[in-house]
Amino acid sequence: MSAEGQTAASKVSSLKGKVTLITGASSGIGAATSILFAKLGAKLALNGRNVENLKKVAQQCAEVGHAEPLLVPGDLTDEEVVKDAIDKTIGHFGKLDVLINSAGILAMGSIETTDMEQFDRVMNTNVRCVYQLTHLAVPHLIRTKGCIVNVSSVNGQRSFPGVLAYCMSKSAIDQLTSCAALELASKEVRVNSVCPGVIVTEVHKRAGLNDEQYAKFLERCRETHALGRPGQADEVAQAIAFLASDAASFITGVNLPVDGGRHAMCPR
Ligand SMILES: NC(=O)c1ccc[n+]([C@@H]2O[C@H](COP(=O)([O-])OP(=O)(O)OC[C@H]3O[C@@H](n4cnc5c(N)ncnc54)[C@H](OP(=O)(O)O)[C@@H]3O)[C@@H](O)[C@H]2O)c1
Repeated sequence: MSAEGQTAASKVSSLKGKVTLITGASSGIGAATSILFAKLGAKLALNGRNVENLKKVAQQCAEVGHAEPLLVPGDLTDEEVVKDAIDKTIGHFGKLDVLINSAGILAMGSIETTDMEQFDRVMNTNVRCVYQLTHLAVPHLIRTKGCIVNVSSVNGQRSFPGVLAYCMSKSAIDQLTSCAALELASKEVRVNSVCPGVIVTEVHKRAGLNDEQYAKFLERCRETHALGRPGQADEVAQAIAFLASDAASFITGVNLPVDGGRHAMCPR
């Protein structure tokens, strides 16, 4: 059916039956995306390192969806784990329609304090793994005329002191998104990213904020986000589902802010 011929309702439900590989599925934005995609009827392959958490998310997906997700756990900085995630997904489902790259880490550090170990850790996790997984997924996505949604950050487009390697890594993801979108457009593979502002997940505490610092950080979102609050993981998941669905059939190469207006703000 042509894009014009589809009803609005069928476009929203176009993720039904779509084989979707989601990284970072064991926590935060990736977990919320997994559960939303399960509700929308997608067939899921889920990656995360923490197998216990991954199983809990898979259980929630099975409760709201039609099928048990396939688990492809492991540390994506290991090239074999990345290859295995693609091979097992294709072996199990026979195809790949959607790739969601949500796995990522945050680290605090400036040009004076970010040593090569931190720089490599952030760039390996947030850029190198995403590149390898995307590179291996693309031949399968060309076959299905599928799509990719990357989870970038407002930090890719705007500059913040004290999270240098992270900002650099997300700028790289924005370029991966728009360059790959241009390279794959003729093959009808769409590539987009979401660029969240502060979203309530584990990522900031994992980067070193204690409970008190985290509470203050969230409180400051009243000023740092135009909408006066941090976002929730499901609000990002909804944007990801939109970009992956036929509702976004004419959208590619977009780095979409999902940040309560933060990208548009300038201090006065
Ligand atoms: N939360 C925010 O404010 C915010 C804002 C902008 C962008 N983002 C981006 O959103 C994405 C998801 O982050 P989140 O906020 O949902 O954080 P989160 O709750 O900490 O989740 C991060 C996910 O990434 C996975 N992961 C990290 N390193 C990995 C590795 N080496 N191999 C495999 N999986 C790995 C984690 O797996 P395990 O837990 O199993 O180890 C977890 O599932 C990240 O790319 C982050 O940069 C977040």
